[in-house]
Amino acid sequence: MILGKIELIPPVIAAPMAGITDQSFRIIAREMGASLVVSEMVSCKGLIYDQAKTWELLSTDELEQPIVVQLFGSVPDEVARAAALIEQKIPCVAIDINMGCPTPKITKNGEGAALMLNPRLAGEIVKSAVRAVSLPVTVKTRKAWDDSSPTAVELAKEVEQAGAAAIAVHGRTRAAFYGGKADWNIIRSVRDAVSIPVIGNGDVFSANDALRLMQGTGCHGIMVGRGALGNPWLFRDISRSLLGQAELPAPTVPERIDMALRQLAMTVERKGEYAAIREMRQHLAWYIKGVSGAARWRDHINRTTSLEDLCEILLQIAAQRPLPAD
Ligand SMILES: Cc1cc2nc3c(=O)[nH]c(=O)nc-3n(C[C@H](O)[C@H](O)[C@H](O)COP(=O)(O)O)c2cc1C
Repeated sequence: MILGKIELIPPVIAAPMAGITDQSFRIIAREMGASLVVSEMVSCKGLIYDQAKTWELLSTDELEQPIVVQLFGSVPDEVARAAALIEQKIPCVAIDINMGCPTPKITKNGEGAALMLNPRLAGEIVKSAVRAVSLPVTVKTRKAWDDSSPTAVELAKEVEQAGAAAIAVHGRTRAAFYGGKADWNIIRSVRDAVSIPVIGNGDVFSANDALRLMQGTGCHGIMVGRGALGNPWLFRDISRSLLGQAELPAPTVPERIDMALRQLAMTVERKGEYAAIREMRQHLAWYIKGVSGAARWRDHINRTTSLEDLCEILLQIAAQRPLPAD
């Protein structure tokens, strides 16, 4: 799959997940085989009004390149101004516009998935961003707002016409949030309706899922979100499978803990101990999923406020020591 000046080989992309896919996560995703990563979504207004918290989300590292920055906004002129700021200040290979976020905080302002209700406005947003930057502008969307509203096909045609370089489609409606099963048929329909690259997304939890999604829909790329949480090896497995390479064994518990410790160390380096210990709790819970005594280990992890104690707990899990008494 080609995106602007780069070719994604194989076309496996780490999905943006706000509050989760920070720099440490993205570096690991790249190392493990994702050929492209996407920032957490950032607010166009936050960039235009120069809010420090918004810019902090965009701290990037050479190690995670190539990276796409994802914006959310609903006013064409604001999206264009924010895109121009990104192009000036942040080394990235494309700018993506979020047209799929289901949270009321976003949709009540007409942003994220609410744009699915107005494909014409979605097109205007893309057109004005495309005029403002020389980087490719892409869109990430869902199947539809709900079962009775215009679908991703209409939106895809509008944004293609407006100059979008690619479109990612998550096969769920906004109404479904993350429940039920992703409908991959909509990805096929979008693939058939436009000539820009289409990235399939939703419920890829194994290399086999990725193959089925690609073969079943003809999509050009695969985007993986929740399946990679605590399991960045999924990027390796999908990449190898798409390249026709042999499957590798699943990581052992000590390997999983090693990776968790690395992510923890990178997060401490970037965000400081206090924030890292708290933000890493969710990731550590994912890394130890399925390990014997995981629920009780998780309790210990969540109660720990010292980095030294946290590392000690992780080393004990790696050594598969018995749980300490409560
Ligand atoms: C906690 C969480 C945060 C998310 N944040 C974003 C986001 O910032 N931008 C976006 O386009 N999608 C976001 N998504 C949606 C994912 O990118 C992806 O479309 C969705 O999880 C379906 O893919 P999956 O089944 O592989 O997880 C988020 C999903 C989750 C679970």
